[in-house]
Amino acid sequence: VHFSDLDTPALLIDVDIMERNVCRLAEYCRQHSLQLRPHTKTHKIPELAQLQVGHGAAGITVAKVGEAEAMADAGLHDILIAYPLLGEKKLSRLAALARRAHITVAVDSLVTARPISETARREGVSIGVRAEFDTGFRRCGLPIDPSSIETVAAIRDLPALEWRGLQVYPGHIMHTASERNGLIDRENERLTRLVELMDAAGIDRSILSGGNTPAAYQAHRFVGVTEIRPGTYIFNDKNTVCAEAATYADCALTVLTRVVSRSVSGKAIVDAGSKTLSADLLLSGNRQGYGHVMDHEGVVVEDLSEEHGHLDLARAARQPRLGDLIRIIPNHVCTCINLHDRVYGLRNEQIVNEWAVAGRGKVQ
Ligand SMILES: Cc1ncc(COP(=O)(O)O)c(C=O)c1O
Repeated sequence: VHFSDLDTPALLIDVDIMERNVCRLAEYCRQHSLQLRPHTKTHKIPELAQLQVGHGAAGITVAKVGEAEAMADAGLHDILIAYPLLGEKKLSRLAALARRAHITVAVDSLVTARPISETARREGVSIGVRAEFDTGFRRCGLPIDPSSIETVAAIRDLPALEWRGLQVYPGHIMHTASERNGLIDRENERLTRLVELMDAAGIDRSILSGGNTPAAYQAHRFVGVTEIRPGTYIFNDKNTVCAEAATYADCALTVLTRVVSRSVSGKAIVDAGSKTLSADLLLSGNRQGYGHVMDHEGVVVEDLSEEHGHLDLARAARQPRLGDLIRIIPNHVCTCINLHDRVYGLRNEQIVNEWAVAGRGKVQ
């Protein structure tokens, strides 16, 4: 089937670009003796997680128990849940998961860790635990400070939990390549401090997990980091391109849309709005626009309704016609895929695969 025969809107994955992205980072990690544990919240597709593991990923990362369940259902074994888990319902599902997969959870407090330990002991399962530290993103993570030592040591010593080291998430290291250089220097001051604190306290840091997509190929520069968890890199998106960490030629996922109205002058309306592309703003520059329009120089996705994408044609090199197919690279690929039941694999313009987004909507 040629992709133009698909109904729209639809998500297309250029399989060659995706495989190149997966292989390239796997090779980089091999060269630098870094473990790779891709964050699969980007695609939520077990078959793609298997592709990553097949290329040498040590295991996978997920954000939610529901995502972990979808991955374990498909046979993925070594799963890190890089998200604070609280509440009895989640913990009983966690225990059930730990019976059938090798599970690690990231925690940043004893209040979170203790019930996980109690659940593991009561249910007779072993669960791995990692302590998360904040290196500047200011979302989750203990402060890198002597005051955190007591908490980390207590987490490490909780019964029925297996110590699996430390985690950081450098979500603040994006921007442009040159700005990242300075940010990495500052990050290294914090990581050096973290390493010194852990060594002085005798806390095993032989696993120190970090990494994101913008800084993926600088991962070897981060002090003490032994593992990285990039997710977006498998597809890349407009954010990654604006961060100078990829080019549009490295973007594997596009939203196939159709021009459904040309009645308003200076505009083309496509059948992909916020319920198809996601309304996430660009993370850089003027934050304007909702994606990159392929093969249509000067056309801007200036606004989104729920089901309509508003293309501004003021600077268009050529005018799209009613019924034309238009492919858009989303600003943020992870939130885009999460809106879709399936994606299509594309090779030489032919559909060669179809994958269900098994983890979509699994926010619990
Ligand atoms: C904890 C954690 N690790 C890793 C990642 C992956 O980073 P990226 O989206 O830059 O690939 C994320 C992304 O949000 C994250 O929250």
